[in-house]
Amino acid sequence: MWIREESPDDADAIGAVVLAAFAGTAHGDGRLETRIVDTLRADRALAVSLVADIDRRIAGHIALSAARPSRDGDGWYVLGPVAVAPADQGHGIGTALVHAGMRILQERQANGCVVLGDPAYYGRFGFRPDPLLTLPGAPEGAFQALRFTDAASAGEVILHPAFGLHEQD
Ligand SMILES: CC(C)(COP(=O)(O)OP(=O)(O)OC[C@H]1O[C@@H](n2cnc3c(N)ncnc32)[C@H](O)[C@@H]1OP(=O)(O)O)[C@@H](O)C(=O)NCCC(=O)NCCS
Repeated sequence: MWIREESPDDADAIGAVVLAAFAGTAHGDGRLETRIVDTLRADRALAVSLVADIDRRIAGHIALSAARPSRDGDGWYVLGPVAVAPADQGHGIGTALVHAGMRILQERQANGCVVLGDPAYYGRFGFRPDPLLTLPGAPEGAFQALRFTDAASAGEVILHPAFGLHEQD
């Protein structure tokens, strides 16, 4: 498996993986998450877009885009969507993608990263609910942060408008 940045002709394969990964989950249906990735890409807002490439087949994908806490908001990112093709789940691909993404952010001297998702999964990477950072409307405990520096970043976190997309939009 090779973790690499997406290339221009990966967009359709990434969309297929995101669609398949989220279809039928309790927290998504795939179309919305695919639109988030496509909207971020179209808006040149994909700060990092990593794929897990197995013999030229894309088995997983993560997106990172800028996020902005209201105070000391520079150098923050949001992780998501995180998707691994159903047949490839449970083999460490999601873990490898998230670790690679966090390494890239640290290399870029980011202050931190937020994620909206299952604490049972993201806790393993060091993400924790952060009393100083909030996302209005997020389910209790699902909005988590991983700080890389001691920046005093705090407040409501603004994400790219793609994350506010709804089915009917
Ligand atoms: C969540 C997801 C990205 C994990 O990718 P993966 O490659 O299957 O994960 P890994 O193999 O690296 O890690 C598997 C571990 O995570 C655990 N895990 C997987 N999904 C989990 C979840 N939703 N909640 C808690 N733990 C989870 C597994 O039990 C396993 O634990 P173990 O290492 O103790 O055995 C993948 O299952 C997926 O695409 N799911 C559908 C889309 C989704 O829900 N994305 C995340 C949105 S928050």
